[in-house]
Amino acid sequence: MARLNADNVALAERIIARYPKPRSALIPLCHLAQEQDGWLSEEAMAHIAELIDCTPAQVLGTASFYEMFKLHPVGRYCVNVCTNISCQLLGGEELLEHAEETLGVRSGGTTEDGMFTLEDVECVAACTEAPAVQVNYRYFHRLDTEAFDELISALRAGELEDSVPPHGTLAKVRQELDGDRVANITAPQDQSKPVWIERAEAAARSGGDDS
Ligand code: FES
Repeated sequence: MARLNADNVALAERIIARYPKPRSALIPLCHLAQEQDGWLSEEAMAHIAELIDCTPAQVLGTASFYEMFKLHPVGRYCVNVCTNISCQLLGGEELLEHAEETLGVRSGGTTEDGMFTLEDVECVAACTEAPAVQVNYRYFHRLDTEAFDELISALRAGELEDSVPPHGTLAKVRQELDGDRVANITAPQDQSKPVWIERAEAAARSGGDDS
């Protein structure tokens, strides 16, 4: 799969410039690559490493910690069915079984047409709205089997393109900051020490107690 394309390299450079150190942009650039391809490929991680002057292993080491970064191809829509306690009590497991039948894949699988990846997930923090489902991390609450099938049909028909963009798209509006509105981007070596550190260091030098 792809390295970042030319437009995204230009965008990556603008993102990197917002931080005191290039490698602070590691996670935003992983999101950018995932937005481009729908998942985070080895080639993209190697390209990110080049851009922020670290190793591909360091990019992988960070990205693999976060469940939202997919290190393998996934469907256009990631359908997450919660089966944790609140959702389980209100039919989450039955809903997952139904989802497997509707989509024709087991949990963890992707439909042959590449449209849907189904996942059995832990609590997604919508316990009062159980059973909860997320599609590309957008919430759908209190779904029964009929409502689930309607949701899948609407996604297949492209009726929810506005509210559920393809997997990897965090937001449809990208934040841009004018240079004079960027807050306190000062390289660490150019920043003054916090007062409490200076006080502690002075106390240590004098062998006394600064309290
Ligand atoms: S248990 Fe399902 S959202 Fe919390």
